Amino acid sequence: MSETLERWGSKRAFILAVTGAAVGLGNIWRFPYVAGENGGAAFLLIYVAFVLLLGIPVMMAEILIGRAGRRGPMQALGVLASEAGASRHWRWLGLFGAFTVFCILSFYSVVSGWSIEFLVASVNGNFNGASAAEIGAGFEAFLANPGLLIFNHSLFLFMTMTVVAAGVAKGLERLNNLLMPLLYGLLLLLAIYATTTSGFGTALSWLFLPSFEDVTAEVVLHAMGHAFFTLAVGACALMAYGAYMPDEQSLPKAAFAVAVLDISVALLAGIAIFSVVFAQGMDPADGPGLMFVTLPIAFSELPWGSFWLSVFFLLLLLATWTSAINLAEPMVATLQGLGWRRSTATAAVALSVWLIGLLSAFSFSTLAEFRPLFGRNVFELVSSIPPDIFLPMGGLLIAIFAAWVMPQARVISALDAGERGYLLWRTTIRWVSIPLTFIVLLGGLL
Ligand code: PHE
Repeated sequence: MSETLERWGSKRAFILAVTGAAVGLGNIWRFPYVAGENGGAAFLLIYVAFVLLLGIPVMMAEILIGRAGRRGPMQALGVLASEAGASRHWRWLGLFGAFTVFCILSFYSVVSGWSIEFLVASVNGNFNGASAAEIGAGFEAFLANPGLLIFNHSLFLFMTMTVVAAGVAKGLERLNNLLMPLLYGLLLLLAIYATTTSGFGTALSWLFLPSFEDVTAEVVLHAMGHAFFTLAVGACALMAYGAYMPDEQSLPKAAFAVAVLDISVALLAGIAIFSVVFAQGMDPADGPGLMFVTLPIAFSELPWGSFWLSVFFLLLLLATWTSAINLAEPMVATLQGLGWRRSTATAAVALSVWLIGLLSAFSFSTLAEFRPLFGRNVFELVSSIPPDIFLPMGGLLIAIFAAWVMPQARVISALDAGERGYLLWRTTIRWVSIPLTFIVLLGGLL
């Protein structure tokens, strides 16, 4: 591949594309249940601090590498490393990123499939008049049916890979333009509705009044992993998008805009979901089913409930779709850079993700007790280790590469933030982001 890659049509299109990658299951499904398992407000506070101190600077590092290299991640890293007189082995970082997104996409596609099922169920009015207990039991029964999970996983992956095959810049632009404002608006409505529920007060204090007694090294590690996951940083996925970035665009502004949007989506979702959790006397640490059980309960009590629930699942599905496309892109871009045709690369990625995804789909029934590592089954492994460990590791190396290895003149031009912006970024990433990521990773692993 040469320097004649496709480009996003405008600055706005780039910001929307990165927001599309960032906003997804991470905000609406993963944030509430991980926060629920890790104590609520203290987790939220630490995660937001990590977004500011690590997420944003590393996001800039990652995108600027792609922008300076204008190639698939592996090739961009290789070329920039040679240019700097550093080892070409840096390119393996691109492969590590591809491996990380591979693991993530394998469970992401399965969970996104749940949204398809729930979309269909809400269009059919299946939640009408159902009690909270019935909705909970229905979800359990659904998870115990691997055939249904596999069908939806296959459908979702097919939807994703079709867009990837067409080339993301063109395929995504139109979708993102419409989707983000709609999703945001609906979440806002939900949060407003939440103020009328009896659980609202408890939800607010649970989310915003931190108590630090229960904060362990593990909670801090989860918060850091989630900051990387929700921003889509650390797997060279945004690096692949940076390669299509327009020439004139300030990177810090784009990164801040995305982070603010991303956090606010998570907060709106958190307020809506935890209000229902507390109004219904449910347990916040209920795990991956949290959103799928609470929201149908909330909507079933609203006028036009089925309609709004259908709209919600449709928007969620579209949001996860744009994230999944970003997850697939670095793998396809990497294979393409190795000389594969885009269509062949897409097919190979689709098939292998589908196969590994089956293990996650079966993790709720047949393979529930198959626990190959750390006493966790496959779904539990792929939904925790790659986000909590691989993304921060990848992010750390990306940061080191941009802050210490790349020729700084290249960094300055790709960052497009002026002299002061550059110095601020460099100081933060060198003396805060890199050491902090390292310490938290080490502390969490030990
Ligand atoms: N940020 C996405 C989400 O929150 C997930 C993702 C992670 C996408 C890593 C790309 C890379 O759903």
